Amino acid sequence: MYTVKDILDSKGRTVQSVDPETTVYEALKKMAGHNIGAIVVIKEKKVMGIFSERDYARKVVLKGKTSQESRVGDMMTDKVFFVRLSTSVNECMKLMTDQRVRHLPVIENDELIGIISIGDVVSKTIEDQNHTINQLEDYIVGKRL
Ligand SMILES: NC(=O)c1ccc[n+]([C@@H]2O[C@H](COP(=O)([O-])OP(=O)(O)OC[C@H]3O[C@@H](n4cnc5c(N)ncnc54)[C@H](O)[C@@H]3O)[C@@H](O)[C@H]2O)c1
Repeated sequence: MYTVKDILDSKGRTVQSVDPETTVYEALKKMAGHNIGAIVVIKEKKVMGIFSERDYARKVVLKGKTSQESRVGDMMTDKVFFVRLSTSVNECMKLMTDQRVRHLPVIENDELIGIISIGDVVSKTIEDQNHTINQLEDYIVGKRL
């Protein structure tokens, strides 16, 4: 069973983040520049929340606010669900589904060491299932055992 560590080993551990005082406009520019759908909001090395495209749509656009005037700290989601390197991909999928979140920051020893998204989890799940299918096919045609 794959874990968060396997995902980070292939995608890397860099986390794109902003300060809570950053304008929503600047955060969106950074997100577009890195082609990511969410950005971690950090103050003095502490994770304060996550600002996502969904937050932008619901808390800025639909509320008639402008991205230049709004601060990320006021628009972010402050309830953040964390995972560890040892968390299984299945557990991540369950957490994302149950809590309706698409991004999970990775914490080890109180330190932010990565982030995974729903796409990472789906991709790893497909890899895992393909691996199992290949093993079963090999077994059935007698290549193994
Ligand atoms: N083929 C793959 O392995 C793969 C992996 C992830 C996403 N995708 C595809 O990309 C599209 C969008 O993906 P998504 O909905 O999962 O979300 P997303 O666009 O936020 O994530 C895309 C990638 O950026 C990374 N990322 C996101 N926020 C980050 C941050 N703040 N700092 C550092 N890295 C960050 C994610 O871990 C993921 O690898 C989907 O169509 C998805 O299927 C493909």
